[in-house]
This record gives sequence, C-alpha cells and structure tokens, in this order.
Amino acid sequence: MACGLVRFDNLRIDMKQLLIIYHTTTGGSEQLAQAVARGAKQEATIEVVLLQAQNARIDHLLKAGGYVFIAPEMLGSLSGLMKDFFDRTYYHALDHLNGRPYATVICAGSDGQGALRQLEKIATGWRLKRIAEPTVVLTRAQKKEEILQAKYIDQASLQTSEELGAAFATGLALAIF
Ligand SMILES: Cc1cc2nc3c(=O)[nH]c(=O)nc-3n(C[C@H](O)[C@H](O)[C@H](O)COP(=O)(O)O)c2cc1C
Repeated sequence: MACGLVRFDNLRIDMKQLLIIYHTTTGGSEQLAQAVARGAKQEATIEVVLLQAQNARIDHLLKAGGYVFIAPEMLGSLSGLMKDFFDRTYYHALDHLNGRPYATVICAGSDGQGALRQLEKIATGWRLKRIAEPTVVLTRAQKKEEILQAKYIDQASLQTSEELGAAFATGLALAIF
C-alpha cells in the first residue's frame, strides 16, 4: 500500500458481513478461525469472509459489519504477520470503525495474555465494541519440538469457537450490537 491517507468515499459498510482475520504458523489458529466461520455460516443472511492476515486489507476492514481476530501469541505479543496487518491498516481505519462489534481468539502455547492485551489495545484505539469475552486457547506446547509441530485444537475449544461464530452472526442478523 502506498503512503498517505487512503480515500474510501465509495466504500459502503455491509452490516451483514462478518470478517474473520487470522494468522497461523502451525495450524491452531486456522482451525479456530474455521470453527468460527462454520458457526457463523449457520446464519444464512450473514456473509462470512475468512481471510489470512497477509491477505487482509483496509477495504476489507472498512466494508465489514463486524470482526473476529484470531492469532497466535509469539514472543509475548501478537504474531508478526497479525501485527503487520494492524500496522498496515491502523491509521487508515482510525475514526472509521467506531462502535463496530468484534471478538478475539488467541492461540498460545502456555500464556496468551501479552497478545491479548495488545489486541485489546488496538481494538480500544479503533473504538470497537467487544461483544464476547476473549478466548485464549492453550496448545500446551512448551518444548521446541512441540512448538514447531502441527497443532490439533481440542474439540471443546473448536465447539466454543463455533458457538462464538454462531452468536456473532445471529447478533449481526438481528442488528443487536
Ligand atoms: C517464535 C515463537 C514464539 C512463541 N512465543 C510464545 C509466547 O510468548 N507465549 C505462548 O504462550 N506461546 C508462544 N509460542 C507458542 C505458540 O503460541 C503456539 O505454538 C501456538 O499454538 C501457535 O499457533 P498456530 O498453531 O496458530 O501457529 C511461540 C511459538 C513460536 C514459534
């Protein structure tokens, strides 16, 4: 994206669109994102857009009626490519997203609080409205080998994520946020 303020006069908000943005390195966050999307798709009137952070742009953000952000914690904060998405869009979006609903899921080995704090600060800066308690899913990976291997998220966490997606989509459909 070029420097300078992006103009988006023609962009219309679609309050019936739920945007799910995620980043993953070993698959955990992706499974959680897919579970949220599955749940949200149960509401037929809501369009669900599932995007990897690398592919997400300011126009996606400005168009959607609500957001679920899903990312791993790495080195005590948001993973680099998730942070990169916010770095690319933060000031372009500032003052344009006020009051829009959002939810957060963090996938972490043993902690997750640093990434969660960082994400909540960004959402507060954007004046987003949190519609559910944040979820931190722990994969219990601590040793190097465990951290680097593919992750398989437990059924209960997938179920919780699916329910989050379903509740979010219902709320959007009923315009209750
Ligand atoms: C470089 C690196 C740093 C990490 N730092 C943390 C950390 O600070 N806290 C934590 O709880 N987990 C940490 N982890 C573990 C990941 O959060 C965990 O493996 C998670 O499942 C990754 O999500 P993903 O499967 O969606 O990529 C780290 C992993 C890597 C590769």
